[in-house]
Amino acid sequence: MIDPATATALMAEAHTALTHAYVPYSAFPVGAAVLTEDGTIFRGANIENASYPLTCCAERTAVYAALNAGHTVITAVAVTATRVPTVTPCGGCRQVLNEFKPADRDLIVILDGETLTQVPLADLLPHAFGPRDLD
Ligand code: THU
Repeated sequence: MIDPATATALMAEAHTALTHAYVPYSAFPVGAAVLTEDGTIFRGANIENASYPLTCCAERTAVYAALNAGHTVITAVAVTATRVPTVTPCGGCRQVLNEFKPADRDLIVILDGETLTQVPLADLLPHAFGPRDLD
């Protein structure tokens, strides 16, 4: 788990992120913020497309922003959506998050709500297939 102040700060960034959601088809804005190993935060919002399956979720845009800045280890992610009190990462995003979790501990997923909930990624994606399974 991560300290409550950091979790709150990360969720605040996720709330900022969703103001940039591009959601003309679903009208379901989602915001995410990832925390990298050195404490840097990257934001992401969902970006939809007229060709619907090309939509990229908020979690993935945040992870890819971190990767594009040279960060390959994600320690935590906060996720929020305007239309529901709590949103959890979709299956595809869980798999992408699994790819970049720390080697020595689990990635923490922070869910929005009346109080923040911290969930280890392994609880959302048990028995995951990941990069180390290819060794
Ligand atoms: N969405 C996310 O961005 N993250 C999730 O974890 C769940 C779903 C987006 C995809 C699409 O733009 C909209 O929410 C409705 O599915």
